[in-house]
Amino acid sequence: MHIMESTPGPRTVIDGKEVDYFAGTGYYCLQGHPEVIAAAVEAVKKYGVASGTSSTGYGNTPVSVELETSAARFFGTESVICYASGCLGNSILLEGLGDDYDAIFADKESHYSIMNAAYMVYKPVIVFEDRDPEDLRKKLKMYLEPSQRPVVICDGIFPISGHISPIPQYVEVLKEIEGAIICVDDAHATGVIGEKGRGTYEYFGLTGEGLYASGTLGKALGAQGGIIAGDKAYIKKLKEKSTFPNACSAIAIPAAAAAAKALDILYRDLDLRRKLWDNALYAKSGFRGLGFAIDDSPAPIICLHSLKNVDFQALQLELYKKNIAVTYLAGGGYTSVPRNGALRISIFSSHTREQIDGLIEAISRLI
Ligand SMILES: Cc1ncc(COP(=O)(O)O)c(C=O)c1O
Repeated sequence: MHIMESTPGPRTVIDGKEVDYFAGTGYYCLQGHPEVIAAAVEAVKKYGVASGTSSTGYGNTPVSVELETSAARFFGTESVICYASGCLGNSILLEGLGDDYDAIFADKESHYSIMNAAYMVYKPVIVFEDRDPEDLRKKLKMYLEPSQRPVVICDGIFPISGHISPIPQYVEVLKEIEGAIICVDDAHATGVIGEKGRGTYEYFGLTGEGLYASGTLGKALGAQGGIIAGDKAYIKKLKEKSTFPNACSAIAIPAAAAAAKALDILYRDLDLRRKLWDNALYAKSGFRGLGFAIDDSPAPIICLHSLKNVDFQALQLELYKKNIAVTYLAGGGYTSVPRNGALRISIFSSHTREQIDGLIEAISRLI
């Protein structure tokens, strides 16, 4: 077990040594941003650590109101719903929209929280091949009854493979089916892709009816909690029809204050996104140069796998000896891990080109 002894950043202290850190999900390192920390500390001093009740009880505070205001501005919507963990977002969507669909079609590599939510709502669940619109079309033909409406659910950006779901192709497949809807788990896309950081739909320029998403405050936004944005009637419906967030405590005060500040920072500082995308594209191109098949999307997750004679677990250990931290995942060890295991590399907006070059160079010497 490793112990992180500083705030996560491009240089992070782990197990008593400072390393070049290419792991985790804090793509802008907002967890350690001085304004974010100050907001969290200030809020705790005023309102304590937590409200000790759900947001449907007395759990709303000036901090949660501020979070909702910042989030609505960030997402450009009338309203938002915030809850204790991004993991709950898929349940909130599938329960809250329960009257709007009859069968669930989920990507095979969907995050655990999608599959848990899908099996919780007592509707047929059909799995289609990862990011495969043609298989989705086939499964819809095979399993959807003529009068039924499907919901397609998937990750926006997959946590380990870093792939982006081909949502425009799904829209195309669904356009013949009356009442079809899509739910995207945007945990890794929130604040990351799309011109304004609003996630996968914005990245593809998709708007309109039937496109729903949930996000997290715990990755790029550096705090903790989940979020769904939309118009007032939709958010009211989700609150009324889903068991979460009624069933759990509101987001803890420091996390809510940190998230509100992080959303403000990301809203005003467009440069952060540019730097993140530039770094991601730069690093991906470097790894393609080493022979890895990697897409050229701005998603800041790089997945190295399936290179002949390379033991990726040994590679991670060797890199760690050289004070570079990346993540190794065995096949089946998490959702969207390639069958034979993989190295997951996170790119941050604040990584320097020297750090990225150093990582690529170290890996090129070891493979
Ligand atoms: C796709 C996906 N959804 C949801 C989550 C959970 O988000 P949170 O940590 O906010 O509960 C994760 C993170 O692990 C994830 O990768």
